[in-house]
Amino acid sequence: MKTRRSRVAAALASAGAAGISGQTLADALGVSRVAVAKHIAALRDAGYGIDAVRGEGYSLVSLPANLVPVEVERLVTDAFWVCIEGAEETGSTNDDAREHARTGSAEGTAIVVGRQTAGKGRLGREWTSPEGGAYLSALLRPPCALTEVASLAPACALGVAYGLESLGVTCALKWPNDVQIDGKKVAGLLLEMSAETDRVEWVAAGCGVNVRHSTSCPENAAFVADFSDASPSAVAAAVLDGLARAYREFLAGGFAAMRDAYDARHSLIGAEVTVRDMTGAIVASGVVNGVDSSARLVLRGPDGTTPVVAGEVTLRD
Ligand code: BTN
Repeated sequence: MKTRRSRVAAALASAGAAGISGQTLADALGVSRVAVAKHIAALRDAGYGIDAVRGEGYSLVSLPANLVPVEVERLVTDAFWVCIEGAEETGSTNDDAREHARTGSAEGTAIVVGRQTAGKGRLGREWTSPEGGAYLSALLRPPCALTEVASLAPACALGVAYGLESLGVTCALKWPNDVQIDGKKVAGLLLEMSAETDRVEWVAAGCGVNVRHSTSCPENAAFVADFSDASPSAVAAAVLDGLARAYREFLAGGFAAMRDAYDARHSLIGAEVTVRDMTGAIVASGVVNGVDSSARLVLRGPDGTTPVVAGEVTLRD
């Protein structure tokens, strides 16, 4: 269910240069013209350029340059998203999603922001989150056991690829959760959860996407802006729609049903790699065959194949 504010933004966008009268907006939304004027003021504050012509109404002249939650809500199409919240900035959207989970928010709640001050990456790393990126977390409540949920992170990475591809961007996946363009990382995922052995209570699926260039992004990063003129809000909306699609596929058939789609984009296939654990110790090495139906990385070596459950992959020279 879209909020009134995003419906005002949607009505302005579809009216185009012709504009729309305050009374038409008020009638369509079932609110007073004073309420419409308040929504218009809030949209202007959020970065929408809206012209007002006395007696004629409002017309949208520009969209916000940075990520704005109401714009993400306007652009999202998948009904899976029941609530899209956010702000210009937060500490970590995953922490915000955790708080939503704790207070009973529904599956399909998403938190989207334009900057993070305490963004978290995998393996306890920091995720630099400057303005110009898209940072979001999705609250999921998958009806499955802890053992089954391990493959949800690669499934979500596939969802992010679906989303970016819908914007015309060709991307690849690097096991387990990295999304790449031309061999460079454009997006990463961090899934945090609360679970008992045989029941997952909630999952916060957090995704950070490099949209526009920033001096504080790592040197080896890729940026959506080099391949698409989609705004950070449009990127966040596309990623949310991709995540919803992937989550539906995961619930319907498990990762096994997504494995071919994952491997079709898998940049590591055929590469000689080393996998290390959090301490840097080598877990396995070999040539990548692909992933198995549980999303484990299958390595081929002199002694046959080895499935790897977790770790950080590096290419061998
Ligand atoms: C990685 O290390 O590749 C995972 C990065 C995940 C970053 C995202 S940004 C939105 C969400 N909030 C966080 O604090 N982290 C994730």
